[in-house]
Amino acid sequence: MTPEHYSVLLQESLDYLAIKPDGAYLDCTAGLGGHSRAIAERLSPAGRLIVNDRDGESLEMAKRALIDFVDRAEFQQAPFSMLNETGMDGILADLGTSRFQLTDADRGFSLLQDGPLDMRMDQTRGVTAADLVNHSAETAIADWIFQFGQERRNARKIARAIYAARPLRSTLHLAGVVEGVVPRVGPIHPATRTFQALRIVVNDEMKELDALLNRVARMTRTGGRIVIISFHSLEDARVKEKFRDLTRAGIAQLLTKKPVVPGDREVRMNPASRSAKLRAVEITGTEAQ
Ligand SMILES: C[S@@+](CC[C@H](N)C(=O)[O-])C[C@H]1O[C@@H](n2cnc3c(N)ncnc32)[C@H](O)[C@@H]1O
Repeated sequence: MTPEHYSVLLQESLDYLAIKPDGAYLDCTAGLGGHSRAIAERLSPAGRLIVNDRDGESLEMAKRALIDFVDRAEFQQAPFSMLNETGMDGILADLGTSRFQLTDADRGFSLLQDGPLDMRMDQTRGVTAADLVNHSAETAIADWIFQFGQERRNARKIARAIYAARPLRSTLHLAGVVEGVVPRVGPIHPATRTFQALRIVVNDEMKELDALLNRVARMTRTGGRIVIISFHSLEDARVKEKFRDLTRAGIAQLLTKKPVVPGDREVRMNPASRSAKLRAVEITGTEAQ
């Protein structure tokens, strides 16, 4: 199976990007290279695709997926907050974590296999999930779980249990501590939301998304398209608001009045796609500096 088979809303992303064969494109979130490869296939050798990810290991995998397209693809490792391209015909961001990050136990995102409590997308910098759970105030941990995990009822209870169990040493240790105070109901592990919250904080994901949203219009030429896929309601709300502001300011035209979501077939084949929401705009004017 190629990575493309896992890429969320793949056909919809390509349709909204309306790829011009000679155009210049930026995939901000290469992951396993599925979307990137599909974009590269639609470019001529005169086209250009910048394949970006903050995660060096993911970028190496994306390089392998794009081995047939080195004439038109360039690779770069940068967080959204460091992107400074200009003149793009299309920009894609497929937010969140890749299947590789979630299933490689050593990266510390998985609550099903034991690994270090890391969760950094870029393992060369920043604090780890272990730093956060072992050294932060109990109230801060509770607030993260409440806000980013959207764990409204159990956030305080979970934070108290984490505090009492310190030092937490591994992913399964943390998952077990959460399961000790929140009983399992249904197929979703009770620590899923706690892991999501910590991942968002470790990678500063909301600030990174804001940095991206504040620069995408400037990076795109008139007639160019911006497509963003999010997986969290807080992310989607930010994308919706920014796209609405750009539209009201006469800089962009909204292409998706409502978010585009995966159909039943895609959700059946890839349950992780169930919370995906795609929004797109076309740039129609210039942003005031
Ligand atoms: C859902 S995956 C992308 C999957 C990809 N579209 C594919 O088809 O294989 C999201 C990727 O975005 C990257 N990412 C998340 N936040 C980022 C940020 N702020 N800057 C750069 N890359 C980021 C992650 O490292 C991850 O590899």
